[in-house]
Amino acid sequence: MTGVLRVVTAGSVDDGKSTLIGRLLFDSKALFDDQLAAIERAGTDSGEVVPDLALVTDGLRAERAQGITIDVAYRYFSSPERTFILADCPGHIQYTRNMVTGASTADLALLLVDARNGVSEQTRRHALIASLLGIKHVVLCVNKMDAVGWSRERFAEICEEFRRFTAKLDVPDLSFVPMSALTGDNVVHRTTSMPWYEGTSLLRRLEDVHTTSDRNLIDARLPVQYVIRGQDGVRRYAGTIAGGVFKPGDEVVVLPAGTSTVVTEVCGPGGAELAEAAAPQAVTVRLADELPVGRGDLLCRPNNRPQVAQDVDALVCWLSDRGELAPDRRYLLLHTTRATAATVRAVDYHMDVTTLHRDKSVNTLSLNQIGRVSLRTRQPLLFDPYRSNRATGSFVLVDEATNDTVAAGMLIGPSLSASPVVWHPPGVTSGDRPSQGVTVWFTGLSASGKSTIAAALERLLARADRPAYLLDGDNLRHGLNADLGFAQRDREENVRRVGEVAKLFADFGAVAVASLISPYRADRDRVRAAHEAAGLPFVEVFVDTPIELCAARDPKGLYQRAMAGEITGFTGIDDPYEPPSRPELVLRPDHGDPDAMAEAVLRVVDEVTARQR
Ligand code: ADX
Repeated sequence: MTGVLRVVTAGSVDDGKSTLIGRLLFDSKALFDDQLAAIERAGTDSGEVVPDLALVTDGLRAERAQGITIDVAYRYFSSPERTFILADCPGHIQYTRNMVTGASTADLALLLVDARNGVSEQTRRHALIASLLGIKHVVLCVNKMDAVGWSRERFAEICEEFRRFTAKLDVPDLSFVPMSALTGDNVVHRTTSMPWYEGTSLLRRLEDVHTTSDRNLIDARLPVQYVIRGQDGVRRYAGTIAGGVFKPGDEVVVLPAGTSTVVTEVCGPGGAELAEAAAPQAVTVRLADELPVGRGDLLCRPNNRPQVAQDVDALVCWLSDRGELAPDRRYLLLHTTRATAATVRAVDYHMDVTTLHRDKSVNTLSLNQIGRVSLRTRQPLLFDPYRSNRATGSFVLVDEATNDTVAAGMLIGPSLSASPVVWHPPGVTSGDRPSQGVTVWFTGLSASGKSTIAAALERLLARADRPAYLLDGDNLRHGLNADLGFAQRDREENVRRVGEVAKLFADFGAVAVASLISPYRADRDRVRAAHEAAGLPFVEVFVDTPIELCAARDPKGLYQRAMAGEITGFTGIDDPYEPPSRPELVLRPDHGDPDAMAEAVLRVVDEVTARQR
């Protein structure tokens, strides 16, 4: 008997999917007695002669009530030749995410069309997902052939149309079965109604599919899930083999550390020693050396290692209806047995599932959309491209705030957009410089006095022969940031650029004095994080002048114009200002004149930099 076959079915209720599944189970004599009784009862109630096979499937009542199936249901059945696990995915357009869930471990996808309607948008969507998920075998069931007079031409037409579409996809093994789930023709038993059809029934097709060559038995990968210390005091490592074969005597490398050792024992889940084990078996292994191996580490062979990267490209299917994928947002990325923070750096394109057109003008993905993105992870990923290994090549993204799984992803490889640019290690580091650099960031409303205090601070430092440079928002908008306006994205970019320049000055050993409204907390926090990552001190000074006072000063007459509606999106009037939550210093009007304030700032700067040194 060939191994278990995992089948994912997709198609809509109207295509007759529930009936097909019922027929498969019924005719293969896999029905339980009570289910049989239910069918007969329903048949009598409605006066139908044909048993209502749709009744066999789970979740049936819900489906009938709403006209759609709503979740993935797994069913097991056997023929004399093989055991099958059937993941039944609803075909309703909104439930692509169910198919992604159900199909992620499938060997074969069973797609269903109604012979009268032919290939629909959903059929295309499901074929695309099947191919993206690396399902090598696809069977298109052309159902309801009885309704088209068992027409050979109609069948040929549908096959041709589907072939044309899948030619653009990666489907190595495609077959077609004309059938009627209602009459049972070609589901389990070969049809007599279509003498022109020379192929086998669907069940026979499922029995015959060869899947052993689909599994990756070459690249040995064992992600460590648990460390177990046995009663004998020996440490063993448990996990599910994600690729290849492991056996005692194998030389292995523990990643990311890179240490080599040898496998001395491989045991199955019951603890029995095995001569060897292969994917996807769950095992515990023992190693020759006591090494600091932990959850999330990966065992592989020395000459066959996975890729290691922090910048990766991936195909992502967005699964959340509570928000869109947002570039620059942080997510938790779950990959094999590891979890690490990740940010989406860019959406390269969004794919139109029906035309396969790639739309490059978008930068988000919403529910059920599929697109290519580049990601940056906090810890390097140890991965294989999804095409060569579905286990080490897939991941999910989790929204940390809600704990929802928001996306399923398939890794393509290290980011091409990131790789041409290399980071060169600096020749001189800050410890070699004559002075410790620092960034002082003034934030507050327009006319709050930021620039006046900042200028006073710059003068104070210059008098003390300390290198200092004022980066004033208004002034930089004449040059570096001349292309930016005041929309949220523009302000974000403004703050990012000035943050980067300030960081360079601070790295050089100067006191970078930045003075920008910088109204968004997240933007300022990113600048702070970038400084922290580079080991440079960052001092945030909140110039907390009440808006009434700013508006009364109004040196450029902007408040007046904003209040008259001549300028829109003016900070404090009809645009937000988010005060810092933990600034190093808050300056209020009663704290003295600008020079006194500059001195107060300098004291804080000196304290912070002294701590850094
Ligand atoms: S920020 O919001 O992007 O940090 P920035 O500090 O560079 O702003 O520039 C703010 C200055 O631009 C203000 O002092 C004011 O002179 C001028 N300005 C013009 N339009 C606006 C506006 N809509 N909102 C705030 N400031 C504006």
